[in-house]
Amino acid sequence: MTQDTEISTLSAEQARDELERLARLLASANTAYHTDDAPEISDAEYDRLKRRNAAIEDAFPNLKRADSPSDQVGAKPADGFAKVTHALRMLSLGNAFDDADVLAFDASIRKYLGLGQDALSYTAEPKIDGLSLSLRYEKGRLVQAATRGDGAVGENVTANARNIADIPASIDDAPELLEVRGEVYMSHPDFEALNARQSEMDAKTFANPRNAAAGSLRQLDARITAARPLRFFAYAWGAVSEPLAETQMAAIECLGTMGFTVNPLTRLCRDPGDMIAHYHEIEMQRATLGYDIDGVVYKVDDLAFQARLGFRSTTPRWAIAHKFPAELAWTRLEAIDIQVGRTGALSPVARLTPVTVGGVVVSNATLHNEDYIAGRDARGGEIRGGKDIRAGDWVQVYRAGDVIPKVADVDLSKRPESAARYAFPDTCPECGSAAIREEGDAVRRCTGGLICPAQAVEKLKHFVSRAAFDIEGLGAKQVEQFHTDGWISEPADIFTLRDRYGEGLQQLKNREGWGEKSAENLFEAIEDKRRIPLKRLIFALGIRHVGEVAAADLARHFGTWDALGQTIDAAAGAAACHLRADQAEAEERRAAEAEGRRARIKSTRDAAWQDLDPAAHAAWSDLIGIDGIGATVAVALVTTFQQEAERASINRLTDRLDIQPEDQPQTADSAVAGKTVVFTGTLEKMTRAEAKARAEALGAKVSGSVSAKTDLLVAGPGAGSKAKKAQELGIEMLDEDGWLDLIGEA
Ligand code: IVH
Repeated sequence: MTQDTEISTLSAEQARDELERLARLLASANTAYHTDDAPEISDAEYDRLKRRNAAIEDAFPNLKRADSPSDQVGAKPADGFAKVTHALRMLSLGNAFDDADVLAFDASIRKYLGLGQDALSYTAEPKIDGLSLSLRYEKGRLVQAATRGDGAVGENVTANARNIADIPASIDDAPELLEVRGEVYMSHPDFEALNARQSEMDAKTFANPRNAAAGSLRQLDARITAARPLRFFAYAWGAVSEPLAETQMAAIECLGTMGFTVNPLTRLCRDPGDMIAHYHEIEMQRATLGYDIDGVVYKVDDLAFQARLGFRSTTPRWAIAHKFPAELAWTRLEAIDIQVGRTGALSPVARLTPVTVGGVVVSNATLHNEDYIAGRDARGGEIRGGKDIRAGDWVQVYRAGDVIPKVADVDLSKRPESAARYAFPDTCPECGSAAIREEGDAVRRCTGGLICPAQAVEKLKHFVSRAAFDIEGLGAKQVEQFHTDGWISEPADIFTLRDRYGEGLQQLKNREGWGEKSAENLFEAIEDKRRIPLKRLIFALGIRHVGEVAAADLARHFGTWDALGQTIDAAAGAAACHLRADQAEAEERRAAEAEGRRARIKSTRDAAWQDLDPAAHAAWSDLIGIDGIGATVAVALVTTFQQEAERASINRLTDRLDIQPEDQPQTADSAVAGKTVVFTGTLEKMTRAEAKARAEALGAKVSGSVSAKTDLLVAGPGAGSKAKKAQELGIEMLDEDGWLDLIGEA
């Protein structure tokens, strides 16, 4: 169903852009869902974006962002509740979308544990669509209830949880410490009755039971929670002073005996066939359960295996959620509009007749680019069977809100006769400059640069965004307003706002939503950010292809703004050579094909580099030699710095900043942090995958071959050439027990 560019066809630069886009979308979706209780996209779309992000990261591991959505669970807690640091992180679940994913899950676990065809059981139970809650019992008494928050820190909602009938205030025969985890939800009849009451009182109604449950639990006034009928299913545990049982199934039964409500559809399954059969059984009952579920969760039954499998950064290896299929809707596409982004990209947006699916109203959807509208992929192949999309068409939309839902399909039988093929503009609708599509780029871009108001505003929004300057009180909305008013037209203007308007505070003060205090707070927040870490500044400049990861790589490598600037300037001539070489290579390939001979790539490229000043060559090598920085980023940096107006604008900005050099990387306190480790021979107490995962979790880098950079070789029986080489190089060697001892797991 996915109509995104096929991942295998993405260039590194497209992948980087795509990862940036996905990080933005997912961050915004997270906040909408977890902090505002107002989801903007459907769960299915969220899962799909997350999967696509992970797949791109798999294909381009060095482009993985420092703020990768793969490493994040939920969103930061909202203000207002006290914060609770979870004794054990509250994690999320990986997803399976079809039978093949379930088989792959089973296979990966068998492989990790080295089980072969031995018996391996799983539990299967409904995935409740509510919000997770961790309940802490000390000596059998409920002492704390906390929401998941960002997984590490949640909100203290103890007073509210005490009002939920399914949550016992005390339990008999309880261990000294027991954290019970599960899902708070609202039943369908209770949800409908609540909404009816809310409408009668002219109060806010909720889009769906999950929002109603979240809104009701996260009430600062516990009396409101008490008046809302919330329920709770227990399905897991956190910190415990003694094990509950030896299997997941027995542990759940134990929680049931203690007085918790556990889901009656929980089953023990012997193999993936059983699991999938139970999935379909639950799916058939979905409509009549009386509460929302969005899939089935499978968990390895044997708790000793669960312990060995452990966790990835945000998900357990021993469990997975098998999701129900996405919800879709058909509606009319009324018009196609073009939006201009920060780098000048012209993005087509479908304006739709609003359609409600699962409680979320969709009225806009992305159409990606001109090829997508025309029914072509990046290589000219057909998508949607070659059907193009036109204003007036009847289109299928993924259930989603305003975080870029997608048009998936078009029904030609309902196309009005008057519908005309869409002509993608070749001038920028915002500034009238030519919009050009470069070879190999799926996107058409405005060439107006700084004169294009749309680009300027988008650049400013990026500049103040969370991973960039993150100025409190100066978000996208305010930036737009200030730009319209002519108060800021480039980033440097933000830092002279007070000088220019401090006196005329009145102007801000009289604005809707602004008081004297908020204006003063804003100036202070701006002042605070004058001191800015180098990597944030680099990212904030919004240079094409320079996302957060590249910005951090550059900052780490150069340390200071001056060192970075000098190298970029020195590399100017080399970037030109690189572009000439690319062009010459393309020409040579064409010529060779026409003449039926082999292309002379090396000599053609070398010719373009002749006569280059060695200093420029050295600067260029320095840039592209940085792990994670390639020629695409290097060219983008040089091009930006070479553009006179752009450079002057950057200089005006940096003149007003106190740029913090990049700190040296911190060394973690584990014995193997930062060390390069090689495993060889047969490991007897763990599989290779398990060993690698443990080592990496402790900050080590695991390599497959021995070199002078290797710090440690862990050799099991049967170790051969690697052990010999390590001996020759005088590298420290340990056996498996020695290794376990070193990492404190003997
Ligand atoms: S197990 C370590 N079981 O789904 C993982 N989670 O998408 C513990 N959820 O954060 C979670 N029903 O809020 C588990 N039967 C179930 C569940 C369930 C709903 C939620 C939970 C989790 C989220 C992950």
